[in-house]
Amino acid sequence: MKKTAFYSVMLVLLGILMPFNLIYADGSNKIFEGAPCINPPYIIGNYPETTFLFYIPTSGERPMAWKADDLPKGLSLNSETGIISGKVTDAGEYTVTLTATNRLGKDKQQIIIRIGEELALTPPMGWNSWNTFGRHLTESLIMEIADAMVKNGMRDLGYAYINIDDFWQLKERGADGHIQINKEKFPNGIKYVADYLHERGLKLGIYSDAAEYTCGGVCGSIGYEDVDAKDFADWGVDLLKYDYCGAPFGQQEAIERYTKMGKALRATNRSIIYSVCEWGQREPWKWAKQVGGHYWRTTGDIGDHWSNKVIGPGLGVMEITDMNAPLSEYAGPGGWNDPDMLIVGISGTSMSIGGNNKSGCSDEQYRSHMSLWCMMASPLLCGNDIRNMSRETLETLTNRNIIAINQDVLGKQATRSIRADYFDIWVKPLSNNEMAIACLNRSDKLLDVLIDSKTIPGLTANADIKDVWAGRNLGKLSDGLNVKLEPYQCKVYIFSGK
Ligand code: GAL
Repeated sequence: MKKTAFYSVMLVLLGILMPFNLIYADGSNKIFEGAPCINPPYIIGNYPETTFLFYIPTSGERPMAWKADDLPKGLSLNSETGIISGKVTDAGEYTVTLTATNRLGKDKQQIIIRIGEELALTPPMGWNSWNTFGRHLTESLIMEIADAMVKNGMRDLGYAYINIDDFWQLKERGADGHIQINKEKFPNGIKYVADYLHERGLKLGIYSDAAEYTCGGVCGSIGYEDVDAKDFADWGVDLLKYDYCGAPFGQQEAIERYTKMGKALRATNRSIIYSVCEWGQREPWKWAKQVGGHYWRTTGDIGDHWSNKVIGPGLGVMEITDMNAPLSEYAGPGGWNDPDMLIVGISGTSMSIGGNNKSGCSDEQYRSHMSLWCMMASPLLCGNDIRNMSRETLETLTNRNIIAINQDVLGKQATRSIRADYFDIWVKPLSNNEMAIACLNRSDKLLDVLIDSKTIPGLTANADIKDVWAGRNLGKLSDGLNVKLEPYQCKVYIFSGK
């Protein structure tokens, strides 16, 4: 063999064997090891003249130092904390170059800060109190969750919002016309918690309802939208989940009620993400964005189980997937379908949602759930107790490659190109002419599925393949990829090149 031919073969082999962007090579928590890696989101929206806050999610060994070139006027970076903050007056699209440096190297990444009328240019990521804690939420829980998110590295993979769900309020509105905070749960008020989160570059979400009382029977916002929105803004809230218990059934009434709160939020001095939660009963995918919504529930509540054909109550991951699958055309930057929050790692510990009270789903099923939510460009709001989770759960929630698919700047929700009896094939176009393809085994049997250029339009034999969960390059597609799936497994691949 000629020397050059030998080197080319070796290079190809090296490319195939080299892990790409892999955080966990040996099963250990490597978020805080190695050279820096700036993780998504790479595009951030904010309203003009409102507070901007963004922690640059970066994995790699600490200490780390950050630099930001070409920040728009009004923003500044704290190079030691990695937090960009300030206020921008002029609408526009600003390309900013970020650099993260540590003892082992540096990473450079261009991001876009778009000051204008849109928020949530990629699906929001964070945590919500409901799925595990239900009514049992307190100030110290929220602050401990924030500490955990910083400590376990989730913040460095892009998780930013910590959302207080139902039961932070008292039942009756105060004589002064304001919602009364339950001081047994939040003795120092909501602003205190918001400040604590903001100091760490995290953001606070809150919850209310478009009727007199919430689903939990405490104070809702109907008739007081302006007062409540202003209170939320004064407290430093960054997101509102607006529920629909106790409100009229018709679509028109729902549109009116959601419009009122949408306008009230936009009239505040903050960029507040608006989550529309009427469980998909009035086709919100057709109107929620117009009333100021940034994501909208497409289904009823999730339960901690794979399929409610087997066990209920609450919808299973499979039923929700089937309901959300046909809605891809409605999702995009600034407005997302929300197939409800993640149940990854709840493992039967929920105090609110139904499910299999013994153990929830298997780790494989939780991983597949994560893959599907990432493919469907869903908001990634986990709900497990992240202060105390298994290595498998942490690895599922913080896999950089699968999150990058969710956060891709093109903002496409995957479409299902094949729905067979026991398996699905999903296709999600990505930026840079890449394409993510997921193969899901719905059954409890081993399964072989073939991906080739005949079954998937747009794929060519010359495409390079990466296995997302294994973090490995697999070479060219050639005459097809034979995918071996364990029971309930979802394998995800990225195809690049023509
Ligand atoms: C439901 C909502 C859940 C949770 C709950 C609180 O309507 O879908 O996600 O917010 O209310 O009571």
